[in-house]
Amino acid sequence: MPGEALGAEPEPGGGVVRFARSSLRVRVAAGGAVFCGWDGAAPEPSYALAGACPEADERAVLEPDTDGGWRVVSERVLVTVSRRGAVEVRTPGGVVLRRDLPPRWWEPVGAGGPAGAGGPAGAGGAVGAVGTVDAGRPADAGRPTALEGAAGPGGPPGGRWVQRSEVAADARFFGLGGRASGPRLRDGAYRLWNTDPGGAFGPGDDPLYITMPVQLVVADAGTHLVFHDNSWDGRVTLWEGEEGAGSGHDRPGRCEVRMDGGPVRSWVLVGTPARVLHGWAALTGAPALPPAWALGPQHARWGFGSEREVRRVAAGYRERDLPLSAVHLDIDHYRGHRVFSVDRERFPDLPGLAADLREQGVRLVSIVDPAVKAEPGLAVYDEGAAAGAFVKDAQGREVRGEVWPGESVFPDFTDPQVRSWWGGLYTERLAQGFAGFWHDMNEPVSFAPFGDPSLPRSARHALEGRGGDHREAHNVYGLSMARAGYEGLRRLRPRERPFLFSRSGWAGMQRYGGTWSGDVATGWPGLRASLALVLGLGLCGVPYSGPDVGGFTGSPSPELYLRWFQLGAYLPLFRTHSAITAGRREPWEFGPEVLEHARAALRERMRLLPYFVTLAHLAHRTGAPYVRPVWWRSPEDRALRDCEDAFLLGDSLLVAPVLEPDADRRAVRLPRGRWYDAATGRAHEGPGQVLLDAPLSRIPVLVRAGSVVPVASGGTGQVELEVWPPAPGRTGGGVLITDPEPGTGTAEVVRFTTKWRDGSVVVGQEGLPEPAYPVRLRGVPDAFPDAVVPGI
Ligand code: GLC
Repeated sequence: MPGEALGAEPEPGGGVVRFARSSLRVRVAAGGAVFCGWDGAAPEPSYALAGACPEADERAVLEPDTDGGWRVVSERVLVTVSRRGAVEVRTPGGVVLRRDLPPRWWEPVGAGGPAGAGGPAGAGGAVGAVGTVDAGRPADAGRPTALEGAAGPGGPPGGRWVQRSEVAADARFFGLGGRASGPRLRDGAYRLWNTDPGGAFGPGDDPLYITMPVQLVVADAGTHLVFHDNSWDGRVTLWEGEEGAGSGHDRPGRCEVRMDGGPVRSWVLVGTPARVLHGWAALTGAPALPPAWALGPQHARWGFGSEREVRRVAAGYRERDLPLSAVHLDIDHYRGHRVFSVDRERFPDLPGLAADLREQGVRLVSIVDPAVKAEPGLAVYDEGAAAGAFVKDAQGREVRGEVWPGESVFPDFTDPQVRSWWGGLYTERLAQGFAGFWHDMNEPVSFAPFGDPSLPRSARHALEGRGGDHREAHNVYGLSMARAGYEGLRRLRPRERPFLFSRSGWAGMQRYGGTWSGDVATGWPGLRASLALVLGLGLCGVPYSGPDVGGFTGSPSPELYLRWFQLGAYLPLFRTHSAITAGRREPWEFGPEVLEHARAALRERMRLLPYFVTLAHLAHRTGAPYVRPVWWRSPEDRALRDCEDAFLLGDSLLVAPVLEPDADRRAVRLPRGRWYDAATGRAHEGPGQVLLDAPLSRIPVLVRAGSVVPVASGGTGQVELEVWPPAPGRTGGGVLITDPEPGTGTAEVVRFTTKWRDGSVVVGQEGLPEPAYPVRLRGVPDAFPDAVVPGI
């Protein structure tokens, strides 16, 4: 443990407090983000941060506190450091948001080391279950020993460490990447190790493909995000608190972060949820803006046997008047599953297929797996091997594993030169006519009969020139692959926005693209997990995602398929997909009734496209996810914090998917204010719960009173404004961000207001005497007998 404080030296934005056996740097950055780094840990280098570390807030200074500790006072946050190294982050008014107890270090790396450290790469360098680290010991198991000197000031980071924290008794936890059991993270241990669960997953499976040491903590006293900037294997254990437990005293919420190595450093951001996510995007990067077509409906399948089949499916959509914006080709279009190749027997003319589809407004998206078949004579292998691009063991031999193409090697994406080489390989994909990229198997996966299906922990990685092993590189492998792809595409097609989504990733992955649920098991629990993942990832700064609609495995019942489809229509990535062994997922495969309702969902998605494009731009500019928990604007509403079966889509819509069989109605918890049922126009007052019809034909969607929702008119596709009157005496508004053709011009932001004047709803457009778009008034006219909108 750090021991007693000895003194402190101020630095810009805070300072360094010296303890008997360690040191703590506290720095408040301009914008209010608080950095804490133990043992000389600095904010950089970091895989999460976007570019340079934010400037220090020069006005924030470290000063002695009354009880012998120190404090840093800033505009948005107050930080105190106790004499023994407990750090409290408080609101400017002094309310404690979190208390981080002093960290404890275990063993320095190298002194015996954690299990698996420096272990052999396995027989002949084969990838397998080497060195499984048990990071999951219960909190009090083992007896941590203070290692004097091992973690001394300025010295190298110690080995394993653990840090406990306390939050308010009423706090709820969210985040930690994509968790099937969320969005509210209940008591339990959550591992930080990106993992392909194998087969398919349900709500009980953890961890999954994207883990992140990012927590959003929501309490009456305020919302904060804490990020432990450390990519090593670890485990976060959460205990929700209890108010007035036992003796009438609150039991605080608790959190324990336990890591196998790496720096003890964290960032804390405080404020409203919107402010916190904005700060997070400022720190780790703006979410990449998808091209507008990536916000339309997409269809994939593992096992499209041939070009003919792809044409048949696309024609199926067209003939039935079902909109479709992209078709995704899985590994079966590769020659023997070799990445960057084409099976010319089954796909004789991909560029021709791409061009024909493109004429119908359908893009082709390609899967890209990181594993390269270890096959001399194969250009990608030969080139990579000659350049030393593949991950090696300590003896300098290529680490081999087993993936779809057979024995494979793995590019070391933590090496900038490898990223640049890999990025260049997308030339081949672009020449085949692909417009988007779907990164898969990048946890990375190497099939193993048991144990961790990834690379051995001893595998060496460049880590941007610092050097290290897989224990540190594993969790940033997918992130670094996304960077390679994104930067390559930017170079190859500078005038186009790359469209990329990746199964694995880490904090900051939004800079390069989005993600999807991975192999979610078909079943009602999988449907629920789909929503949990999208919501949780959004709160970790990754706003673009969605599930395999219908589930990855087996065959959903028509009802389940339809309910999944109806949810998917309101999520950023709206894509049907399934495994090669699974049943079909085309909307016409489930009977005429499902087809009719699926068509309605597809049409509604197309109608909402201007709204989705606006949300994509807002996510890019502000970090606010498209899909938000219902407490987004009212985190103080405790009932909303516990509501996991509905979400806000942007500011205006509240979507309440049906997540259970046999439902024809469902309860919906409303945030405060007036909400209109979009189907009936009836107004409901929140906060509170209402029971709404949810026939098979639709799921309940509510619209916030006062909203201006930009939609595409059914006839012309032109933007029109759907206006929902504000509650009497209230005002409202909305925004439209129009998407210029990629590469030309910048997006235009148009703001609208709504208000009542003399018994009429008046819609205003900033800078103009009246709106430049057609306006359509919605909501029950009876409720507003005098409602008249100029222009209609
Ligand atoms: C993985 C992906 C899945 C894909 C399959 C074959 O399981 O998660 O989406 O279809 O690999 O490439």
